[in-house]
Amino acid sequence: MKKETKLIHKGRSPRENHGIVNPPVYHASTVTHATVAEYEESSKKPFDGVHYGRTGTPTSFALEDAVTALYGGHRTVALSSGLAAISVTLHALLKSGDHALVADNVYGPTRVRTCNGLLARAGVNVTYFDPAQSIDGLVKPETKVVYFESPGSLTFEMLDAGKISAEAKAAGATVVMDNTWASPLFFQPFEHGVDIIIEAGTKYISGHADVMLGLVTVSTPEQFQVVKWTGNALGNCPGPDDCYLGLRGLRTLSVRLERHFKNAIRLAEWLQGRAEVDRVLYPALPDDPGHEIWKRDFSGASGLFGVVLKEYSKASIASMLDGMELFAMGDSWGGYESLMIPTDPGKIRTVNEWKATGPSLRIHAGLEDPEDLIADLEKGFGRLTAQG
Ligand SMILES: Cc1ncc(COP(=O)(O)O)c(C=O)c1O
Repeated sequence: MKKETKLIHKGRSPRENHGIVNPPVYHASTVTHATVAEYEESSKKPFDGVHYGRTGTPTSFALEDAVTALYGGHRTVALSSGLAAISVTLHALLKSGDHALVADNVYGPTRVRTCNGLLARAGVNVTYFDPAQSIDGLVKPETKVVYFESPGSLTFEMLDAGKISAEAKAAGATVVMDNTWASPLFFQPFEHGVDIIIEAGTKYISGHADVMLGLVTVSTPEQFQVVKWTGNALGNCPGPDDCYLGLRGLRTLSVRLERHFKNAIRLAEWLQGRAEVDRVLYPALPDDPGHEIWKRDFSGASGLFGVVLKEYSKASIASMLDGMELFAMGDSWGGYESLMIPTDPGKIRTVNEWKATGPSLRIHAGLEDPEDLIADLEKGFGRLTAQG
């Protein structure tokens, strides 16, 4: 089955549900057992089957099964947010004295909260690597995890997943990749040697800006046990309605992403022609530094990209953004609507300096008519240049 067909058919079985197309939403904490023997059996293996609301219900299993079918691998663990998926996975794989090697351009909270906050407090040593370089020579005997995103969600630098995975695995480390930008539709991390895939289901999977959801897809039963155990030990589980909405969002992922891609490339090319713009950060553009890797490994690009402007004051950026009609300002992305925020990608980097002539913006191209979006941007540039 092709991915587009799996999106429609996996994670549901109408014949077991009165013929109803979508699986039901089970709201559950208590799960009752008919006999002592059944209760004891279920308690021994709480992660096999339905044992207690926190360990999973048919609703969360349906979503997990669909995501596993899309990525391949062993199984998926659904959690309460993308950041929960990141923190749970890294806590599952790392303990005091271990080392993790993390790309310098990862999602800010992965770095600041999970790595420099929680992991440092737990005695894990985290160092960062230049996303443009090989990790050869940086992996130590105590390196247990190599972690990256490609492209990074602020600078859009592409990493060579296959090369990094081969180098990490040769040194015995587990490779974890946040694949939220591409989703299973546009990049298949397991085919490039990645061991564990993180996805913020909050973004494209749910697709409507109304759900918090994290997904961890693992490649072995051992990884499943340790990730599932850690999520459960931390008391983390997704809400049933969010699992349902995540699964419902999946059904239309291919048509939505196709349109996000089409709109983003239209906007990116238009922006490249503007005098106010220094460069556009989008690996689908032929002159992007990451284009070769993207073209070789990915089958599409999502709607999220960056723009580096020429030199403009903070007041001019505010004047541009405050007056946007169709682009709202908000931290997330992956919903049906367009977004635009000011960014400062250099602020938290430590390995190499992020060079930018002027202020940066991050744009999420939604599903609107791209010509309306361009008209809004054009008016925005009018306000930007009027301020100077
Ligand atoms: C690349 C990336 N990974 C993970 C996350 C975290 O997801 P969540 O907001 O669901 O915690 C985000 C959120 O913006 C993200 O951009």
